[in-house]
Amino acid sequence: MNALRRFLRGRAKRAATVACAAVLLPGAAAYAVTDSGSLGGPRSSFDPERARALVAEMTLDEKLSFVSGSADPDSIGEAGFVPGVPRLRIPPLRITDGPAGVRIGKPATALPVPVALASSFNDGLAKQYGSVLGGDARALGADVVLGPMMNAIRVPLGGRNFETFSEDPLVTSHIAAAEVSGIQSRGAMASVKHFAGNNQEQDRYSVDARIDDQALHEIELKPFKAAVDAGAASVLCSYNKVNGEQACGSSALLTDILRQQLGFQGWVMSDWYATQSTGSLVKGLDQEMPDSKFLGSALKSALGSGTIPMSALDTAVTRIVTQMGRFGLLDSPPPARPAQDPAAGAKVAQQVAEQGAVLLRNEGGTLPLSGAAGQNLALIGPTAKVPKVGGKGSSLVTPAHASSPLDTITARAGKGARVSYSQGVSEDYAALPAAQVSPQFPAAADGAITVAPSQVHQGTLDVPETGDYRFTADVSGPGVALLTVGGRAKAFIPGIPATLRVHLEAGKVPVTLGQLDGFANGDITAKLKWLTPTQAHQKFGEAVAAAKNAKTAVVFAYDDESEGIDRDSLSLPDYQSELISAVAAANPNTVVVLNTGSSVAMPWLGKTKAVLDMWYPGQQGAEATARLLYGDVAPSGRLTQTFPASLDQTPVGGKPEAYPGKDGTVQYSEGIQVGYRWYDKNSVRPLFPFGYGLTYTQFAYRDLSAAWRDGGLDVEFTLCNTGSAAGEEVPQVYLGASPEVKAPQAAKALAGYQRVKLAAGASARVKMRIDGNELTYWDTSAKSWRVGTGDRNVLVGPSAAVTPLSRSVRIS
Ligand code: BGC
Repeated sequence: MNALRRFLRGRAKRAATVACAAVLLPGAAAYAVTDSGSLGGPRSSFDPERARALVAEMTLDEKLSFVSGSADPDSIGEAGFVPGVPRLRIPPLRITDGPAGVRIGKPATALPVPVALASSFNDGLAKQYGSVLGGDARALGADVVLGPMMNAIRVPLGGRNFETFSEDPLVTSHIAAAEVSGIQSRGAMASVKHFAGNNQEQDRYSVDARIDDQALHEIELKPFKAAVDAGAASVLCSYNKVNGEQACGSSALLTDILRQQLGFQGWVMSDWYATQSTGSLVKGLDQEMPDSKFLGSALKSALGSGTIPMSALDTAVTRIVTQMGRFGLLDSPPPARPAQDPAAGAKVAQQVAEQGAVLLRNEGGTLPLSGAAGQNLALIGPTAKVPKVGGKGSSLVTPAHASSPLDTITARAGKGARVSYSQGVSEDYAALPAAQVSPQFPAAADGAITVAPSQVHQGTLDVPETGDYRFTADVSGPGVALLTVGGRAKAFIPGIPATLRVHLEAGKVPVTLGQLDGFANGDITAKLKWLTPTQAHQKFGEAVAAAKNAKTAVVFAYDDESEGIDRDSLSLPDYQSELISAVAAANPNTVVVLNTGSSVAMPWLGKTKAVLDMWYPGQQGAEATARLLYGDVAPSGRLTQTFPASLDQTPVGGKPEAYPGKDGTVQYSEGIQVGYRWYDKNSVRPLFPFGYGLTYTQFAYRDLSAAWRDGGLDVEFTLCNTGSAAGEEVPQVYLGASPEVKAPQAAKALAGYQRVKLAAGASARVKMRIDGNELTYWDTSAKSWRVGTGDRNVLVGPSAAVTPLSRSVRIS
């Protein structure tokens, strides 16, 4: 491999033309996890008899202590705690979030958000990402990592799209399996989430996801199967209902599917406060988190009265103890905890930020920046200065370190360069004038409004002009303030800055201020502030002037995606679209860097020269951004979700029953046609297709051969770097529908991918093995997977929308 790298480097110096010289690339199913199936952790197996024997020695209370969460007397800031049984030498279990780094209130490696990882299409890197998570978790005193999140990106507005991987089950399966194997290779247990159908945040605690059996298996469950096969120790069941049953209390989901069909051997824990009945224990739930409302004293009574058999408790505890044994936690002494390795974490974080970044537009070779264009820059936008590290909610990590893009870009631009910064987006909130609300909320002289636990202040807000408003609240006291304006609500926790964004028409709208149920422990005070459309535009002029005076304007645009709330629009918030248009009008050489978590609308796209999507790039985002902009490394990420042209033109557009739902249910009416499959089926052209991404060179595809062999497909084609720079391509293999299958099928579905690095002018024969599983569909009547036989198209190309190579292969 090193010889190959040296050879490629050598070629890069010589070749700058389109003549493609062949390079022999080692044949590889690079999308396959090399050691998928290995159990990871210090033990490859553990005799469940030992666990059973330990459980047999436990008192009832000791057994009960495993199936629910308790308060940790020596808390390390973890999310969940199980005390263990010291007299049997069973240690406690500490459970921590999460998918983008360990969230324990102490600095840890803040990795780029999971969608950035998936966009790298690099399974090997996903394993390293997991390894950083697992290593940090163990080093910081935790044993279980709540992640990865694997729910499909079904709706573009989904508030946690940044925290999961893809709209495509193959990408999600491979990245998730690799990450699980990485986490567990460090001796931490992975609890993969949220099982299942947690595809939106709107009404997430109650919504009933109505998913047909085929779509459930082919889209949502397939990645969970991959994680189970990779040896995941635990599965976390979700808040929502699936087909009428609460996910954490559904034997159809937890027993028939998860254990019997998917072969899961570990334990099921509930999402936080998602357990809703004591009977869930017999349905397949093993552990309530984070407290013991249903599986504590209520379970003890049910066991006493015989409503729930003792064998159900024994089974659940045995499952948990078995996994602890498998990870060496029952050994004497237990495995030592590694020291934190911030440098190794930072290295992986940076690689993911670089490889996951997606170059969406690059007119006239604007990027990489060079010469005068790279030495005279106007940086604009808050996240150019204050780095956007992660998304909001339980995945937000305290970064070990995070530089400012302004500093890394200034350093990279070099001596004598001119780099200015202007905020562009105003964040100068003003106190909400008391007289703006009638009747006025009773406030002290400093504007603090007192809210008693069950009190709700109600009034009407006088809205001076139509537009986007931002509200915030400085809260103090033992509770959480709940502010609603014009029907949109936001909770404000003391000491944690938060923003309620809402579009309002001039006139009167209802406003309420109360306390969030369940968190009220006394009176709180809240000082309300707002930012009107006029105030929001106040810093535009300065940014436009800076752009005019620079050779290149780089606008950093952001959004604030968060667990618990879906976005209400595809637009960039805070008038950033208008800001980009104004800057681009002032400077034709405008580059946009996106710090966004999912797809966004880009009405300004045609006015800009380049767009680089960095997602929420983690603690090394600033370093990665500078290196990508200047071409020290070329972008190589690809979209794992379709970017729609508008909200109407999506699988759920104009269908409230499909999203956000009606009468408490959401109909997954698109069935298996999720993401790019729907765009194909309905001939709808998105803004950017699934799989899309540019780099600083171009590639050509030719000479496809495909053969059906040993239950899978051998696919080969030639890839040629026709540009003048080295670069990485992610060729994708899609499979067409089977003519012999009556069930719904995708016109084409991703069956394999591989990252290929080629020097300028080099070409390679790329070989991919397509696993037989990718040729199957879920037969709902037989309740099993079947091969889709007959003549099927094999298509190869750089995205779901562009597949220059195709041929038909007979599958028998
Ligand atoms: C989230 C989970 C998270 C848990 C613990 C829940 O609200 O849905 O993803 O792991 O909280 O923080």
